[in-house]
Amino acid sequence: MSNVHVIDHPLVQHKLTLMRNKEASTNSFRRLLGELASLMTYEITRDMALQDIEVQTPLETMTAKVIDGKKLVFVSILRAGNGILEGMLNVVPGARVGHIGLYRDPETLKPVEYYFKMPSEMTERDVIVVDPMLATGNSAIAAIDKLKSLNPKSIKFVCLLTCPEGVAAMQAAHPDVAIYTASIDRQLNEHGYILPGLGDAGDRIFGTQ
Ligand code: URA
Repeated sequence: MSNVHVIDHPLVQHKLTLMRNKEASTNSFRRLLGELASLMTYEITRDMALQDIEVQTPLETMTAKVIDGKKLVFVSILRAGNGILEGMLNVVPGARVGHIGLYRDPETLKPVEYYFKMPSEMTERDVIVVDPMLATGNSAIAAIDKLKSLNPKSIKFVCLLTCPEGVAAMQAAHPDVAIYTASIDRQLNEHGYILPGLGDAGDRIFGTQ
């Protein structure tokens, strides 16, 4: 699992446990997700490239560092990915945002794309794909298949939770894409839910359960 990073920071683990509680209200679930997303983004962006610029302080001129290159792109897999975006944008407010919408064809069970909108100049950008739950991996794999056709500089994937089945599927399809998560839970059930998990992330974020 060399390309899988479990972010085990105590604050991340504490907030994740509060989110798992089925009694957590929509309001607190959403707030905790935002806080977790910010903390995770801090870790995920640790290796961003820097460049030197000249800056004039009130006292003298110095050479100092700023983020290099074109703005990062956060790509949200609809709809639950949108629940993570705000917390990520709090940490990287200049990031661009792309959206991918996929639904599962009831006959083939394969993901079908219904929406795809990305910023310009993708070949010069690093991409972080976001979806709270990496379960079967089907949506994430299809989203990354499509993104790769735009040839971005790099792609990372971030989720709140995953399971061994999701990690294995993603690594088989996209071994070059690093996965960042707060936990690898025990297993996937026969309905495609992560156990013990936290239930349906989209429903809990948007209060639609
Ligand atoms: N999607 C969810 O929202 N929850 C799961 O457990 C699996 C997929």
